Amino acid sequence: MDVAVIGAGYVGLATAVGLTALGHSVDVGERNEERVAALRQGRSPIYEPELVSFLETAVSSGQLRFHPSNIEAVRNADVVFLAVPTPQGEDGAADTSIVFAVLDEITPVLEPGAILVMKSTVPVGTVGRIQEMLDERGAGATVVSNPEFLREGSAISDFLHPDRIVIGTSDQRAAERMIELYRGLQAPLVVTDPVSSEMIKYSANAFLSTRVTFANAIANLCEAVGADVKDVLLGMGYDNRIGFHFFNPGPGFGGSCFPKDTNALVAIADDAGYDFSLLKAVIHINDIQRERVVDHVRRGVGGTLEGATVAVWGLAFKAGTDDTRSSPAIAIVERLLEEGCVLRAHDPQARVSIEGVTQVNTPIEAVSDADALLIVTEWSDYRMVDLHHVATSMRGDAIIDARNLLDPDAVRRLGMRYQGIGR
Ligand code: NAD
Ligand code: UGA
Repeated sequence: MDVAVIGAGYVGLATAVGLTALGHSVDVGERNEERVAALRQGRSPIYEPELVSFLETAVSSGQLRFHPSNIEAVRNADVVFLAVPTPQGEDGAADTSIVFAVLDEITPVLEPGAILVMKSTVPVGTVGRIQEMLDERGAGATVVSNPEFLREGSAISDFLHPDRIVIGTSDQRAAERMIELYRGLQAPLVVTDPVSSEMIKYSANAFLSTRVTFANAIANLCEAVGADVKDVLLGMGYDNRIGFHFFNPGPGFGGSCFPKDTNALVAIADDAGYDFSLLKAVIHINDIQRERVVDHVRRGVGGTLEGATVAVWGLAFKAGTDDTRSSPAIAIVERLLEEGCVLRAHDPQARVSIEGVTQVNTPIEAVSDADALLIVTEWSDYRMVDLHHVATSMRGDAIIDARNLLDPDAVRRLGMRYQGIGR
């Protein structure tokens, strides 16, 4: 099929290259001209494993094309994906202004019979609203909800091997066309109405956020009662109903999606007259989690952060990505700066420009003469660093491991003090 994708970010690029791998011809509309120029040469503007090799193949074969004009991308397309940002608005709800701006732009050139696919995460009811709008304009296109569940750091693999494909439409022909589009992917299909499909996306992210927050809350309680959260979660996880996945305590969830999507679902619930107090508590507990990490650092340097030199390992919101949007590491760094710390930070992929933070090229450079080491992102590289070298490079003796990455006994054997999360 001839497919257009609007927005060349994590979702748009994974969708575009994934669809070329399924044999479709893809035109991408992207308003950032620098991105377009790089992508046309097969260069990726984001760090995402596997993306570059797929990109090079599809661009050089002519199967994948990039345009600074959305109109050019959409012309003649059978299927048009929207993968533009839906950031959190001031009231907590998702801001859909970019989605609607793109719609205004492309509606006049949509082919009659085209399918418009909503990949962006949009408030419940948006697909229905867009359908009404297109019908009023006589566009002759059908709007389908097809939420994306990929994770950054494994976006391409998640697109090609999804746990499920959700298609939200009440139009039989559109559902069949979508199933045809994804032929070649082995995944269970959930075909439902658009509102339920939009709910699936938010509910999945809210559930996963809640699960992480539950692990964090248990970890906090473990600290208070003197238990080891690793053993507690292990003992829980062997219960098949609970399991081990996505159950690691840390500095709180972050990223471009969980924080905004949990807030958006609370706003959706408020609008619908349901008080989602469970999710409100999750958001609250998650916000406090970062402050607990700051408290650990404060204790580690003897009670006052003013003038302390702290090495920070990890800036990305999680390992495997260079994305620092709503990264707990950045929030913690900002708090430490407020308290007067001197910071030297390292990350294998993420780059930041924050006044007061010196970003260095190796983890060892970061710890040189530091009073404390704080690990915030769970890059496996940090497990490999020679701890003896760390201990001898540091001035102080505190290691705050906000991802429970290191072996506490190995740290303590070197005469260092270890503080994890919940252990
Ligand atoms: P992103 O910020 O990585 O990429 C968005 C792209 O759209 C950028 O390249 C931007 O320049 C471009 N863009 C913005 N306005 C445009 C316009 N008017 N015309 C053309 N291009 C425009 O965003 P993302 O992370 O890919 O997220 C996109 C949507 O997908 C969001 O709704 C998000 O919630 C959802 N989502 C994201 C993920 C994820 O892991 N990042 C996963 C599932 C769903
Ligand atoms: C998340 C979902 O996992 C995807 O399914 C979804 O498509 C995406 O959001 C989205 O809607 O955009 P992602 O943001 O890439 O994907 O990150 P996750 O791997 O889910 O991690 C989210 C946050 O939770 C990170 O800060 C991570 O460090 C944290 N986390 C995750 C934990 O603290 N502990 C865990 O056990 C797992």
